[in-house]
Amino acid sequence: MSEPVRQGGANPTIMQSGLILAAVAAICTTLVALTFNMTRDRIAANEQAFLEQSLARVLSGISFNNDLSASALVVRVPHGLPGKENAIIYRVLNDSAPVAALFVVTATDGFTGPIKLLIGIDYDGAVTGVRALEHKETPGIGALIDENRSDWIYQFAGTSLNAPERSAWAIRRDGGEIDQLTGASVTSRAIVNAVNQTLLYFEANRDEIFTARADSGNTDE
Ligand SMILES: Cc1cc2nc3c(=O)[nH]c(=O)nc-3n(C[C@H](O)[C@H](O)[C@H](O)COP(=O)(O)O)c2cc1C
Repeated sequence: MSEPVRQGGANPTIMQSGLILAAVAAICTTLVALTFNMTRDRIAANEQAFLEQSLARVLSGISFNNDLSASALVVRVPHGLPGKENAIIYRVLNDSAPVAALFVVTATDGFTGPIKLLIGIDYDGAVTGVRALEHKETPGIGALIDENRSDWIYQFAGTSLNAPERSAWAIRRDGGEIDQLTGASVTSRAIVNAVNQTLLYFEANRDEIFTARADSGNTDE
């Protein structure tokens, strides 16, 4: 015998299915939220550990004996460094004497978005090394800024505001002396400009950088 056709009310089977779906969705949402909360701290700790491992590697072998993490200076926006967010400066000391500074800054004008950079500069104003920490540049094109994909980023070590001279601080395509990545002028230009801007900031603020208290926030306070 066929079931009588119900009129003017929701089919109980459809209502049941709806309730089950809603319950499953609620359980899934709760599980995702719980997992996110549990992993967030671990992700932040891993990112910090990765950054700290990277720090010494851009120093080109300069001797130092201070705790780099404890030397961190957060430079709040607005600042003269590349990027629209707070920058971090790690002060590098050897027997309390300043020997270098490490900058975590952001080039805002990458091809596919911001490029987070680690830039080391020695006390005399020469770049000790540059590394791309985070970016979304195109694989095989702009992503060749990664040291494990090409040597391009190594060319900055040894540069300073006078080498190449200031008018030549640009990629070759723009009349400068710095090699661009083939087919990735936008990415290359963004990094060249960010390194140059960081060098200018270091030149203008060197004394304040090394005398500011680790928790004081701004080098110009
Ligand atoms: C799919 C695609 C992805 C690209 N990715 C990048 C990139 O990551 N970085 C970059 O500088 N240019 C990238 N380009 C190339 C730029 O559009 C531009 O042509 C290049 O930066 C060269 O600029 P120029 O002609 O001023 O030298 C990409 C182009 C295409 C079609």
